[in-house]
Amino acid sequence: MTTLLQVDSLCKSFGGLQAIKNVSLEVEDGEIRGLIGPNGSGKSTLFNLISGVYKCDSGSVRFDGADVTNWEPHDIAAKGVARTFQLLRMFTEMTVLENLMIGQHCHVQYGPFAAVFGIGRVAAEEKRLRDEMMELLSFIGLADFAEVPASEMSIGQRRLLALGRGIAMKPKLLMLDEPAAGLSPVNVDNLMSIMVQLKKRYGLTVIVVEHILKVVMDTCERVTVLDHGEKIAEGSPAHVRDDHAVIEAYLGREMDDEEVRAAMAG
Ligand SMILES: Nc1ncnc2c1ncn2[C@@H]1O[C@H](COP(=O)(O)OP(=O)(O)OP(=O)(O)O)[C@@H](O)[C@H]1O
Ligand SMILES: [Mg+2]
Repeated sequence: MTTLLQVDSLCKSFGGLQAIKNVSLEVEDGEIRGLIGPNGSGKSTLFNLISGVYKCDSGSVRFDGADVTNWEPHDIAAKGVARTFQLLRMFTEMTVLENLMIGQHCHVQYGPFAAVFGIGRVAAEEKRLRDEMMELLSFIGLADFAEVPASEMSIGQRRLLALGRGIAMKPKLLMLDEPAAGLSPVNVDNLMSIMVQLKKRYGLTVIVVEHILKVVMDTCERVTVLDHGEKIAEGSPAHVRDDHAVIEAYLGREMDDEEVRAAMAG
């Protein structure tokens, strides 16, 4: 196994608030990693630091053999990191299929193709892309909605579409920020089976932030736990589920004792 992502002693403050404190973690190529922790523990901030949306105060991020610390978001994306956002961002006036295709245009070589082979070749390339995106829509269970405007999709369907857009970027690492939020129970199961197939089908490494702990506990090989910006535990789902510090981090916050145990048990 080779290390795809190596985060070392990362720190980030917002004014007086230390949102990420000295966090280190390594994610292996092909791994599905869970990232959990109470509200405000720094999960989204860590995603924003890795994807270049925020600049860190100190520490480093290495990805696929390069030091990508504080690179611009588009450079990190080009290197192979894609992410979805906790708050959904998409083009609601476009159809579901168009939303997937728009993320793809950097992979279509209009310039050289059009110049050397003419416009027919561009049309062929467009068709190939369309077929590929339709296959992806089938994979995420939205094939029947290809021509529907994104504005008419439910929140759960938009979550799946956001996942599809991440996959369509053909990254090496896909970071998912609460992909199950707003999904019906059937779609949560659907999402979980998609997540475990991502590696086999698209060769992806995944980091997933999720409050529905069942998703993390049932799909991830290893789980990292943040609390108040610090890493408090890491290991197999079974290991973190029994970790005293993890249970305490969740206690007295947004869940009561019973809810924590129920959630941890999946
Ligand atoms: N741009 C920002 N400016 C100021 N404070 C911020 C900013 N982004 C995050 N924070 C603060 O940093 C802390 C960590 O926030 P973050 O969004 O990373 O938590 P989280 O673990 O993703 O929480 P949740 O589970 O609610 O999504 C919080 O106290 C938050 O208010
Ligand atoms: Mg968050």
